[in-house]
Amino acid sequence: MSISTSPHSHLLPQNHNHFLSNHRIHITTTLSLPSPRTFRPIKCAATPTQLQDPLPTQTQAQERVFNFAAGPATLPETVLLRAQSELYLWRGSGMSVMEMSHRGKDFTSIIEKAESDLRTLLQIPPEYSVLFLQGGATTQFAAVPLNLCAPEEPVDYVVTGSWSDKAFKEAQKYCKPSVIWSGKSEKYTKIPSLQGLEQNPDAKYLHICSNETIHGVEYKDYPTPTNPNGVLVADMSSNFCSKPVDVSKFGVIYAGAQKNVGPSGVTIVIIRNDLIGHAQGLTPVMLDYKIHAENRSLYNTPPCYGIYMCGLVFEDLLEQGGLGEVEKNNVKKAEILYNAIDASNGFYKCPVEKSVRSLMNVPFTLEKSELEGEFIKEAAKENMVQLKGHRSVGGMRASIYNAMPLPGVQKLVAFMKDFQARHA
Ligand SMILES: Cc1ncc(COP(=O)(O)O)c(C=O)c1O
Repeated sequence: MSISTSPHSHLLPQNHNHFLSNHRIHITTTLSLPSPRTFRPIKCAATPTQLQDPLPTQTQAQERVFNFAAGPATLPETVLLRAQSELYLWRGSGMSVMEMSHRGKDFTSIIEKAESDLRTLLQIPPEYSVLFLQGGATTQFAAVPLNLCAPEEPVDYVVTGSWSDKAFKEAQKYCKPSVIWSGKSEKYTKIPSLQGLEQNPDAKYLHICSNETIHGVEYKDYPTPTNPNGVLVADMSSNFCSKPVDVSKFGVIYAGAQKNVGPSGVTIVIIRNDLIGHAQGLTPVMLDYKIHAENRSLYNTPPCYGIYMCGLVFEDLLEQGGLGEVEKNNVKKAEILYNAIDASNGFYKCPVEKSVRSLMNVPFTLEKSELEGEFIKEAAKENMVQLKGHRSVGGMRASIYNAMPLPGVQKLVAFMKDFQARHA
């Protein structure tokens, strides 16, 4: 592996070049690829060196791009390299994590460490369970009403974008949800004032999406349910572990891993224990929180490798100094990008109300919308990919999750200024 400057570093302001040169890692991998003609069965006792030796080799030198995708999203390079280094043999176990029994002592240590590190990161109180599940956040759209209320019971939804709208629509099958606020008429560019929410006093829960991935609106504070027996439920998929959160304000937090904390395939649920054990009779076993809590997320075969990857990300976040430090970095990155948009004299526009702009997903449009395709194409040539906005809203969207390094945002901003200078 060798480290060198990106060919595109000229796009960065001079004093930031060192960030880029420190960050861009050219990975030169020597792959041993058996061609169909030369492939021979591999003996089990072979060591990695024996495997590589007689086989034809192919050398690949490739630079990682800055990936602004909304999810699956970029992962920390340190985590990827660590996973690479222990993919073949995991720490003296004689096998890969992918091959381990989910009930064996090695995987038990992996899942327990992941849970314990997540508890430390979010300071999760002891009266909450942490579940590592499957099915994506979309499955939780059904699991939440099935577990928290009876079919005839009312619940409240605040609809701030496409994801909370989907959650509401799914809940209609299992209970009596009401939309108590919707930002649809204003194209989902706002979060309601928390005091002005007209909640149903009997609602069993109040559901919010803490960060709307598509529209780029993010709660800066959270509402309190007016029903003293009701709880706040949040879909935190796209800002999970991006900043400290007071878990005790919530009954349930759920999040798909594939934005900030790992690969797709793992869904994390944090739930207050007294809410477990009341699922509707028809609840499928895989959606029943009680089953998963009692079996410590091992009722069936869990997404073992994904959980291992999440564990590596949690370790990395702790090494960075925890979520307070992570938030500082996220604020800095978002400020740089929003400032560039706001200082462009309308060449770039972010439709979201300033006070609720997301630190994670930054949607923006071009005044000359006919140039948007060109912008995305040119950015991709400069190794900045996945900047196209969601198909439902158009324009551009830069997702700048925890693992997007500061140089990635600096490079994007330098590119935006350069593009504007050429096209204004
Ligand atoms: C906020 C939010 N909620 C829910 C989902 C759906 O997640 P999944 O694809 O894991 O079901 C997404 C996916 O992008 C999301 O961003």
